[in-house]
Amino acid sequence: MVSYETQLEIEQAALALVHSSSVAVLTGAGVSAESGVPTFRASDGLWEGHRIEDVATPEGFGRNPGLVWQFYNARRANVATVEPNPAHTFLAQLENLFPNAFTLITQNVDGLHQLAGSKNVLELHGSLRRTRCTVCEEVRDQFLDPLAEMPTCVLCEGLLRPDIVWFGEMLPQEIWRAAVQATTSCEVFLVVGTSAVVHPASGLIRLARGVGAIVVEANLTLTVASDPAEIGIYGPSGQLLPQVMKRLRELKGMT
Ligand code: OAD
Repeated sequence: MVSYETQLEIEQAALALVHSSSVAVLTGAGVSAESGVPTFRASDGLWEGHRIEDVATPEGFGRNPGLVWQFYNARRANVATVEPNPAHTFLAQLENLFPNAFTLITQNVDGLHQLAGSKNVLELHGSLRRTRCTVCEEVRDQFLDPLAEMPTCVLCEGLLRPDIVWFGEMLPQEIWRAAVQATTSCEVFLVVGTSAVVHPASGLIRLARGVGAIVVEANLTLTVASDPAEIGIYGPSGQLLPQVMKRLRELKGMT
């Protein structure tokens, strides 16, 4: 049963969306939590038991590529067993309501947004599905097929690495520029399932607020993004966001 307060926030979010002509969304690991993909910073999260410096930095990969591949092969195997949840579906449906005026910016590397049907997706932190050769730089879609413990390049036999942005590395610049462009030109900026502590992605939230967008946060709990957010929908996003869609459709006279 949804509280009266949450119902009000859902109503406000639907109203903001119905009056808007363009939407940008920033997602984080929380959007995939209900699919069974662990988040990073929960007590049983992905970093628990792993030092970030060991598994998510170029230096860690240089020291022990086998350990890093063990970590990413386990994540790939996990993602191969999961499916998009209703929060992913909500975002795919939302895109259909805003043709050519919708951008989904994600920090996630699991590809579940695309599986749910989202099309205009900017992957800020890369993808678990791709590898990059450390020698010839060739980027290859490996889907979620199992990889060797230390996979090598079919072109040059160089060691492959996951095509993921690690700590201390630059974001892909074209994707970042597109994310900034979408953020500065949207009327509603929806932030779903991110602790909003990793820069520069989290900076997009204040940027959106700064240009006058209505910021809507959907998360289990309050976060550092809650302050710039005007509307906050707190609870499991896979349960609550479909209610925003239901109300939005009613407001648009679609049901
Ligand atoms: P975090 O693990 O930091 O945060 C997950 C957020 O999701 C938290 O704020 C939770 O409260 C929220 N959450 C959990 N379950 C939820 C649910 N069912 N519905 C709604 N919200 C839920 O993950 P991110 O913010 O994505 O980067 O982390 C950002 C980046 O830090 C990641 O992309 C990764 C990591 O280091 C790299 O690996 C480069």
